Amino acid sequence: RRAPLLAPSFLAADLANLQAETERLADSAADWLHFDVMDGRFVPNISFGLPVLQAVRRYARQPIDVHLMIEEPQNYLAAFRDAGADSITVHYEACPHLHRVVQQIKQLGCRAGVAINPATPVALLEDIAADLDLVLVMSVNPGFGGQAFIPNTLKKVSQVKSLLLDAGSDALIEVDGGVSLANAGPLVDAGADVLVAGNFVFSAPEGPVATLAKLREHLA
Ligand code: DX5
Ligand code: ZN
Repeated sequence: RRAPLLAPSFLAADLANLQAETERLADSAADWLHFDVMDGRFVPNISFGLPVLQAVRRYARQPIDVHLMIEEPQNYLAAFRDAGADSITVHYEACPHLHRVVQQIKQLGCRAGVAINPATPVALLEDIAADLDLVLVMSVNPGFGGQAFIPNTLKKVSQVKSLLLDAGSDALIEVDGGVSLANAGPLVDAGADVLVAGNFVFSAPEGPVATLAKLREHLA
C-alpha cells in the first residue's frame, strides 16, 4: 500500500495554544498542516483566517494546506499566499470562473486545489482536471469538524482517480471529513494521496502525535 500524506486539521486543535499545537506537530508524522477557513456564508460557520495563519506560520515546520470554505476566494488568494499558504484549495461550488481562479493560485506559486462537496458530481471536474495539483473530496458537508464520514466518498475517490488518469493529470487526491482508522485503509486503496483528520487526531486521549504515528503505522 502507498503511504499517504497525513494532514491534521487545526480546526480540532487547542486554539488557545496554537504555538504549542504547531510545535508538537513539528516532530510528528504530519506531512502537511491543514488550515480550514470558513466565512459564515459559503458554510454555516466561521473559523479563523489570515492573522491566525500568519501566527501559525511562525512555528510551522510542515507545508500549510489552506482549505478556503469561502465565497469569492479570488479576492483573498494573494493574502493567503503572503500569510504562509503552500497550497490553496477553493470550492468548485464557490467559483463560477474556476479556471481563472486556479491559474491565479498557480501564478502565486502555490499548489492549486479544488474541493467538491459530497453532492457535487466528480464528472464536473473533467475540464479542469489537467490544470490541478490537488483534488479535495469532501467526505462530510463542510462547516464543522467531528461529523460522520459519508461512505459514498469511497466511490467518488475511485472516480476522481480514473478522471485524473484520463486527463493525464498527476494531481493528488485529498479526502477531508470524518477520516479515522476505520476508513483510512479503504480510502488509500481507492486512490487517496492525502488524508485530512481533525477530531480523530486531536480528540484522542493519547494525543495527536501518538495518534498520527498510529495512523501512519496502520497504513504501512
Ligand atoms: C470540515 C473541514 C475539515 C474538518 C475535518 O468542514 O473542512 O477539514 O476540520 O475534521 P474531522 O476530521 O473532525 O471531520
Ligand atoms: Zn478542511
